[in-house]
Amino acid sequence: MANKTILKWAGSKVRIIEKLRPHLPKTKRLVEPFAGSCAVMMNTDYEQYLIADVNSDLINLYIQIVESPQLFIADAKESFDGNNNEWSYYYSRNMFNILKFALPYIEKPAPLELASLFFYLNRHCYNGLCRYNSKGDFNVPFGKYKKPYFPEREIIAFGKKATNAVIAKLEWQDTLSLVEGNDGIYCDPPYMGGRDSFTQYHTAGFTNADHEALAIALKDINDSQGNPITVSNSVLAKSLYADLGFTIHEIEAPRTIAANGNRKAAKEIIAVLEGVK
Ligand SMILES: C[S@@+](CC[C@H](N)C(=O)[O-])C[C@H]1O[C@@H](n2cnc3c(N)ncnc32)[C@H](O)[C@@H]1O
Repeated sequence: MANKTILKWAGSKVRIIEKLRPHLPKTKRLVEPFAGSCAVMMNTDYEQYLIADVNSDLINLYIQIVESPQLFIADAKESFDGNNNEWSYYYSRNMFNILKFALPYIEKPAPLELASLFFYLNRHCYNGLCRYNSKGDFNVPFGKYKKPYFPEREIIAFGKKATNAVIAKLEWQDTLSLVEGNDGIYCDPPYMGGRDSFTQYHTAGFTNADHEALAIALKDINDSQGNPITVSNSVLAKSLYADLGFTIHEIEAPRTIAANGNRKAAKEIIAVLEGVK
């Protein structure tokens, strides 16, 4: 059984980890520029990880947990208890959006409170989606779950595992600039052709031009430094990666989160460039 993650996350690799694992690089350190819920870190045994994502709320949450899992659990439990109702949800969502933008202007910063609120929103919002409007406000509606799960075990496991990880809020280009000669890279960008909100983990989105730039940058790193590279994407990205010389594996993947309730399996690709010594 795969280890579950702290957050619900669109595109989480928990359900396909057994199919993905054999194709991951066999290196000492794994670099993950699109780490999301860290499903891959929580289900692999690299000696070290570089965990990065552009979503600052997500990375702040991880950093708070690493700094003090017990403090985070205590604070997060307070947000959870007795607050599984619409009024509390929208109150917390407002607080989160206000606090986030006030952060640079208040004397005593509140990253722990922000992390707890983000975690509460993730576990109580509709389908665990992470979506922002053009102003950057979190805007997912209330999820109406009977009893949202409090993943204490997963938080503790993450805190332990992440002692071997560097965690940073970075655009993927900046993460790739930190790749060293012996690293393996696993990229799981928002899927190409995602017509719905699954691809909106932050305000900017991920365009076809971004997909092309990423694929070319990965090929360049493999050519210049020899790092082994694995990429997940939708089948729509198949020719992009095949044309650059990646080996393509097609897999059936159950959807973890579907905005329209459609959880039918969909085809995905795992594109691989072997390492060059
Ligand atoms: C498909 S999800 C990754 C899921 C992850 N593998 C998991 O198992 O949970 C894609 C991730 O890419 C991140 N992302 C989107 N645009 C990005 C960018 N320009 N640079 C870095 N990360 C980005 C999103 O915040 C999201 O967490």
